[in-house]
Amino acid sequence: MNSRNHTWIRSGVELVDEQHKEYFRRLDILLGMMEKSELNDYELRRSFDFFRSYAVVHFDTEELLMKISSYPETEGHMRTHEFFSETIERMAEELSVSRDISLVAEELKVFLTGWLEDHIETFDLKLTKFLKERVLANELKDS
Ligand SMILES: [Fe+2]
Ligand SMILES: [Fe+2]
Repeated sequence: MNSRNHTWIRSGVELVDEQHKEYFRRLDILLGMMEKSELNDYELRRSFDFFRSYAVVHFDTEELLMKISSYPETEGHMRTHEFFSETIERMAEELSVSRDISLVAEELKVFLTGWLEDHIETFDLKLTKFLKERVLANELKDS
Protein backbone atom coordinates (compact mmCIF):
# COMPACT_ATOMS: atom_id res chain seq x y z
CA MET A 1 0.00 0.00 0.00
CA ASN A 2 1.33 3.47 -0.72
CA SER A 3 0.11 7.00 -0.85
CA ARG A 4 2.15 8.00 -3.85
CA ASN A 5 5.79 8.21 -2.73
CA HIS A 6 5.20 6.70 0.69
CA THR A 7 5.47 3.00 1.23
CA TRP A 8 3.40 1.48 3.95
CA ILE A 9 5.67 0.34 6.79
CA ARG A 10 4.43 -2.11 9.40
CA SER A 11 5.72 -1.20 12.87
CA GLY A 12 4.65 -4.42 14.57
CA VAL A 13 2.21 -2.75 16.98
CA GLU A 14 -0.86 -4.25 15.39
CA LEU A 15 -3.69 -1.95 16.42
CA VAL A 16 -1.71 1.16 15.48
CA ASP A 17 -0.68 -0.45 12.20
CA GLU A 18 -4.26 -1.29 11.28
CA GLN A 19 -5.38 2.28 11.94
CA HIS A 20 -2.49 3.74 9.95
CA LYS A 21 -3.25 1.35 7.12
CA GLU A 22 -6.79 2.71 7.01
CA TYR A 23 -5.38 6.25 6.87
CA PHE A 24 -3.26 5.29 3.86
CA ARG A 25 -6.22 3.60 2.21
CA ARG A 26 -8.53 6.58 2.63
CA LEU A 27 -5.86 9.00 1.50
CA ASP A 28 -5.26 6.89 -1.61
CA ILE A 29 -8.98 7.00 -2.39
CA LEU A 30 -9.01 10.79 -2.04
CA LEU A 31 -5.90 11.27 -4.21
CA GLY A 32 -7.29 8.87 -6.80
CA MET A 33 -10.54 10.80 -7.07
CA MET A 34 -8.64 14.08 -7.38
CA GLU A 35 -6.39 12.72 -10.14
CA LYS A 36 -9.38 11.48 -12.12
CA SER A 37 -11.32 14.68 -11.42
CA GLU A 38 -14.03 12.60 -9.79
CA LEU A 39 -14.05 14.45 -6.51
CA ASN A 40 -17.32 16.18 -5.74
CA ASP A 41 -18.69 18.01 -2.75
CA TYR A 42 -20.29 14.87 -1.29
CA GLU A 43 -17.09 12.78 -1.54
CA LEU A 44 -14.96 15.54 -0.08
CA ARG A 45 -17.32 15.84 2.87
CA ARG A 46 -17.11 12.08 3.35
CA SER A 47 -13.32 12.37 3.44
CA PHE A 48 -13.55 15.05 6.09
CA ASP A 49 -15.94 12.90 8.12
CA PHE A 50 -13.53 10.00 7.95
CA PHE A 51 -10.41 11.95 8.95
CA ARG A 52 -12.30 13.66 11.73
CA SER A 53 -13.43 10.45 13.38
CA TYR A 54 -10.09 8.82 12.57
CA ALA A 55 -8.41 11.57 14.60
CA VAL A 56 -10.62 10.90 17.62
CA VAL A 57 -10.27 7.12 17.66
CA HIS A 58 -6.68 6.80 16.52
CA PHE A 59 -5.23 9.55 18.69
CA ASP A 60 -7.06 8.11 21.71
CA THR A 61 -5.45 4.75 20.99
CA GLU A 62 -1.94 6.16 20.73
CA GLU A 63 -2.37 8.45 23.71
CA LEU A 64 -3.57 5.57 25.87
CA LEU A 65 -0.56 3.50 24.82
CA MET A 66 1.72 6.44 25.66
CA LYS A 67 0.20 6.84 29.10
CA ILE A 68 0.25 3.20 30.14
CA SER A 69 3.85 2.83 28.98
CA SER A 70 4.98 6.14 30.56
CA TYR A 71 6.27 7.29 27.19
CA PRO A 72 8.65 10.20 27.88
CA GLU A 73 7.61 12.23 24.80
CA THR A 74 3.87 12.06 25.36
CA GLU A 75 3.28 15.79 25.65
CA GLY A 76 4.99 16.80 22.41
CA HIS A 77 3.33 13.95 20.53
CA MET A 78 -0.10 14.92 21.86
CA ARG A 79 0.43 18.52 20.79
CA THR A 80 0.91 17.44 17.18
CA HIS A 81 -2.30 15.38 17.42
CA GLU A 82 -4.13 18.51 18.56
CA PHE A 83 -2.65 20.39 15.63
CA PHE A 84 -4.01 17.74 13.24
CA SER A 85 -7.52 17.92 14.68
CA GLU A 86 -7.56 21.72 14.67
CA THR A 87 -6.33 21.86 11.08
CA ILE A 88 -8.98 19.40 9.89
CA GLU A 89 -11.69 21.39 11.71
CA ARG A 90 -10.48 24.64 10.15
CA MET A 91 -10.51 23.14 6.66
CA ALA A 92 -13.97 21.63 7.18
CA GLU A 93 -15.22 25.11 8.08
CA GLU A 94 -13.57 26.51 4.97
CA LEU A 95 -15.40 23.88 2.94
CA SER A 96 -18.73 24.92 4.38
CA VAL A 97 -18.27 28.51 3.12
CA SER A 98 -16.19 27.86 0.01
CA ARG A 99 -17.58 27.87 -3.47
CA ASP A 100 -14.47 26.27 -4.89
CA ILE A 101 -14.08 22.79 -3.41
CA SER A 102 -10.93 22.11 -5.43
CA LEU A 103 -9.02 24.68 -3.36
CA VAL A 104 -10.02 23.00 -0.09
CA ALA A 105 -9.32 19.56 -1.58
CA GLU A 106 -5.84 20.66 -2.61
CA GLU A 107 -5.14 22.04 0.84
CA LEU A 108 -6.39 18.81 2.44
CA LYS A 109 -4.26 16.71 0.10
CA VAL A 110 -1.08 18.66 0.93
CA PHE A 111 -1.80 18.44 4.65
CA LEU A 112 -2.67 14.72 4.75
CA THR A 113 0.28 13.75 2.55
CA GLY A 114 2.63 15.88 4.63
CA TRP A 115 1.34 14.17 7.78
CA LEU A 116 2.78 10.85 6.57
CA GLU A 117 6.28 12.30 6.77
CA ASP A 118 5.78 14.85 9.50
CA HIS A 119 4.04 12.51 11.89
CA ILE A 120 3.45 8.85 10.97
CA GLU A 121 6.98 8.19 9.73
CA THR A 122 8.58 10.15 12.57
CA PHE A 123 6.57 10.66 15.79
CA ASP A 124 4.61 7.44 15.45
CA LEU A 125 7.55 5.29 14.43
CA LYS A 126 9.45 6.53 17.46
CA LEU A 127 6.51 5.64 19.68
CA THR A 128 6.01 2.14 18.29
CA LYS A 129 9.73 1.46 18.57
CA PHE A 130 9.56 2.47 22.22
CA LEU A 131 6.48 0.30 22.83
CA LYS A 132 8.13 -2.76 21.32
CA GLU A 133 11.27 -2.23 23.41
CA ARG A 134 9.10 -1.87 26.50
CA VAL A 135 7.30 -5.15 25.81
CA LEU A 136 10.58 -6.91 25.14
CA ALA A 137 12.12 -5.55 28.35
CA ASN A 138 9.11 -6.74 30.36
CA GLU A 139 9.24 -10.16 28.77
CA LEU A 140 12.91 -10.50 29.68
CA LYS A 141 12.18 -9.36 33.23
CA ASP A 142 9.38 -11.92 33.59
CA SER A 143 11.32 -14.84 32.20
FE1 LIG B 1 0.62 9.93 16.56
FE1 LIG C 1 -0.59 7.62 14.30
